[in-house]
Parts: sequence; C-alpha cells; structure tokens
Amino acid sequence: MVTQSCGYGIGEFAVGSIRHCHSAPRLGTMNQDTTDASSARPRILTGDTPTGKLHLGHFVGSIENRLALQDEYDCYFLLANMHAFTTRADQAEQIRTDTIEIVKDWLACGIDPVGSTIVLQTEVPAIAELSWYFAMLIPFNRVMRNPTLKTEIDSKGLGDQYPFGFPMYAVGQCADILAFQPELVPVGEDQVAHIEMCREVARRFAQVYCSVDPNNTSDEDYPAAGAVFPIPRVKVGRIGRLIGIDGKQKMSKSLNNAIFLSDSPKQVKKKIGQIFTGRQSMTEPGTIEGNPLFQYVRTFIRDEQRVAELEDRYTRGDNIGDGHVKAEIADAINALLEPIRDKRDEYEGKAGDDLVIDIIRTGTARANVVAERTLHEAKTAMGLSFGERSLKWV
Ligand code: TRP
Repeated sequence: MVTQSCGYGIGEFAVGSIRHCHSAPRLGTMNQDTTDASSARPRILTGDTPTGKLHLGHFVGSIENRLALQDEYDCYFLLANMHAFTTRADQAEQIRTDTIEIVKDWLACGIDPVGSTIVLQTEVPAIAELSWYFAMLIPFNRVMRNPTLKTEIDSKGLGDQYPFGFPMYAVGQCADILAFQPELVPVGEDQVAHIEMCREVARRFAQVYCSVDPNNTSDEDYPAAGAVFPIPRVKVGRIGRLIGIDGKQKMSKSLNNAIFLSDSPKQVKKKIGQIFTGRQSMTEPGTIEGNPLFQYVRTFIRDEQRVAELEDRYTRGDNIGDGHVKAEIADAINALLEPIRDKRDEYEGKAGDDLVIDIIRTGTARANVVAERTLHEAKTAMGLSFGERSLKWV
C-alpha cells in the first residue's frame, strides 16, 4: 500500500507489498491508490532541460501539445535539471535559476500545477537508479549513434571533450520516461531519436526480465504480456522544427536566434524585423517554400484565409513588402504572447520563486509515489526485491 501526504512542501510515501512484474497491476489500477481523480487517465511524461527561458520553438514544438492534452491525460512534466549538468556542471547556481524560470514559463503558458504534476528530476532517486539498470541494456555504440546526441556534440562544438555523463543523459532520458510508465511522450522533433531509444530499452527490459518475446509481441501488447514498462508512443508538435530568426538553423537559445516567450512586444518586432529574405522590393515576386518569413506566417497567423492571401500577393509581387508581412507576423506573435506575459508577471520576484518551489515540491512528492512504485516493480522483476523502503521530505 502506498501512503502519501503532500500538502505544500511535505510529501511522504512508502512502498510496500512486493509484487512480481507478471502479476503486478497495470497502470489504471496502480494509479488509483496514488493520486486523485486524475488516476483513470492515461499518462504522459515529457519535460525540458532548464537551459534558460523558453522560446517560440518550444511553444509550437511541444508546449502547445501539452496544453491540448493536459485535461485528457494524467501529465507529468519533468524539469530535467540533472541533464543541465551534463554541459554546465560548473554553473549550478545558474541551473537552479533556470529551473525556477522554466516553471514560470510553464505556468504562464497555462500548465496547471494541480491537475498535472511538475517533477524535479534530481529529487526523484528512482530515475537515477533506473538509469543504471538501463545502461546495462543498451550497447555503448548504440548510444553514440543516437543522431540527437551527435547533432548536439556538433552544434555545441564539444568535439571529444564532453564528459562521460553527456552520453549518459540519453540513457537517463529513458529512465525519466519509463519511471512514469507513460503511454505518450509529446516532444519536439529533435527528441524523437531519444524516444526511439527509450522504446528499445523498454522492449529489451521486457525480454530480459519479464519473459516477453519481442518477436511475437506488438508494442501495444507489452503490458498485457507481463512487461513492467509500456512501449511509449511519441507525439510531435504542430511545427516540428521552427527556424530561428537567422533564417538558417533551428530556433535555439544557444544559437542566439530565438524569440523568448518573455520577450516584450518591442523585442518581438525588432527580432522579426531582422529576418533576412533577400527580396528587394514590394513588386518582386517572392518564394514561399523555404522562406523563413512564411514559416512564421503559417505558424503564427491562424486565419487561413489571410495566410492564403499573403502567400498569393507575395508570390505575385503584388505590392507587398517584407516589412508588411513582418508587421503582421509580429502582431500575431504578440497576440499569442500577451496573456503569457501577463500571467508570468504573477510569478515575479521572491514571492513568485517561493510559490514555484512549493509547486515543485508538491509535484515531486506526488511523482515519487509513482516512480518508486515503478522502480519497485522493475527491481522485483530483476530479482532485486530485498525489502521495503520509504522516502520523505523533511
Ligand atoms: N532532452 C529534453 C530536452 O532537452 C528534455 C527531457 C529530459 C525530456 N527528459 C525527458 C523530454 C523525457 C521528454 C521526455 O528538451
């Protein structure tokens, strides 16, 4: 039986009755004694590495999906602060600030900290433990072939100077996900390779420890076949890859080409103004495909008729300058961001920080109930059931 009390700042839980994975209850039943009415809903796990403020690429790539799904699903939103240490181990104070800031962004966008669960990775020990076990189930060279890792090594110019923990984060991400036994992982396109690796690890675990035959079991059937972990599906956002204002690379804080959710209307206007198309005049016929301006038009102007009109006039060079298109884009972005900015103001300063820390503690207490239970199931399947334990906030 799991016990839990998670008033603000205080959560306590204990994991009891030892079960073997073949007979362990599945998601629906397991949830019922851990959380409230949210229990019957299928689960989602996703998250962000706190590297700074969120930008529009995050919004259309993933946040939008989280907002759309948060009522229908039991959502766990992970603050992957341990992952931030993979490249910034010497910047602990900044990582702490970034962690709090990212929660402010989430809340400002409309993530509901009561109906959904905000999880701080470094206070969920089950994730670190599962990472170890999963690291034994995947070959090192498979991890190093992960295209997302490779791209990151290139784009951050890490060469061969990255720490041991850097590739380890990809294995850790499998644990982030599977600790919550989710059905669905909504992410931006750049994360798809990680989710694929996670699915491989989940299948491998089932094969090695739960006697599931991978050749005769389809992904959806793993839980019914006795697996501890479901094989989670990925869901990519409406815009998989939003181009940055440099018009070349994916929007990213480190590439200095991002529009942040907290940017002022003036900053948004200025940044959009910097997008370069090479078009010379209002009457020059322009191209739409591959034109960064028009990815923004299609992404942020939600009136389809207006989009069609702009595209038509631009293509024909019908008296329409880039400046005009840019002004419409900036207006649309500002309309999207206005309520987000207003809500973010509510969390300003020390009082805001304190509120955010309370939310983190409450969510993480709730998350630990789920993650400890999963870990216990996994360890039981691995023949590691040597007794009970409990964790608590003090
Ligand atoms: N790697 C993700 C990013 O940088 C963040 C992340 C960590 C994540 N763990 C996760 C995303 C689990 C989805 C699921 O954006």
